[in-house]
Amino acid sequence: MVESKKEIIVMKNISKSYKVGNNIFKALEDINLTIRKGEFVAIIGKSGAGKSTLMNIIGCLDSKVEGEYILDGLNTRCSDNRLAEIRNNKIGFVFQNYNLLPKINVMENVELPLIYMDLDYKKIREKSIKCLEKVGLKEHIKHKPSELSGGQMQRVAIARALVTNPEIILADEPTGALDSKTGNDILKMLNDLNKDGNTIILITHDKEIARKAKRIITIKDGKIISDTKNNKYRNEEEVYED
Ligand SMILES: Nc1ncnc2c1ncn2[C@@H]1O[C@H](COP(=O)(O)OP(=O)(O)O)[C@@H](O)[C@H]1O
Ligand SMILES: [Mg+2]
Repeated sequence: MVESKKEIIVMKNISKSYKVGNNIFKALEDINLTIRKGEFVAIIGKSGAGKSTLMNIIGCLDSKVEGEYILDGLNTRCSDNRLAEIRNNKIGFVFQNYNLLPKINVMENVELPLIYMDLDYKKIREKSIKCLEKVGLKEHIKHKPSELSGGQMQRVAIARALVTNPEIILADEPTGALDSKTGNDILKMLNDLNKDGNTIILITHDKEIARKAKRIITIKDGKIISDTKNNKYRNEEEVYED
């Protein structure tokens, strides 16, 4: 079955400037970008290229930009409260350092994004357990993050990203703190989620990681310098061989 090719991200002439002393520094310049539902995209660039700046905009963490950014049909030029609402509904974040709360257990960490939604507690718990099952951690729901390995903690973070059923999973260097075997397992998991229809955006400085995605966008000095289909993604086995 072919997924509908709905446009999830549409950026038109997005630029971002920072004031540095008396100078204006353009961290992003005229970014035009469309990402459709079901894509698996890597955004790659060297340190200082503008990846974090772009991620903050995609993730609705920064709307003080020039240009237009439409996320799933919604204009992100809006109040901060509205932007937070869009962010909570549309984006699931996965960060390099997992960002789990240490004092609560795995299940409670995954429930967090749902706490502010108007759901009854039974439903929240159900959704949390379902997502933890999906990432293979059902046996660990009562554990504290500190009782888990790095790879397991990142799987908790993925479950937490999934629990709101977001339009996009935005993963910023998700394997940056992991050894290569564990990192590959995490990338495989993201690939499986993409096969289930999730839209994945992976931000990385590492070519080997970017080649796991189906489309690779390269940024340099705040500009998109290439945007290509990943020819290596002919078949998954080849991409994920160890
Ligand atoms: N708050 C800021 N103030 C001034 N310059 C910034 C700020 N944030 C980022 N920059 C600059 O913008 C450029 C892009 O940064 P960033 O998006 O963090 O790149 P990357 O994530 O690819 O390493 C860099 O030259 C960086 O120094
Ligand atoms: Mg960065």
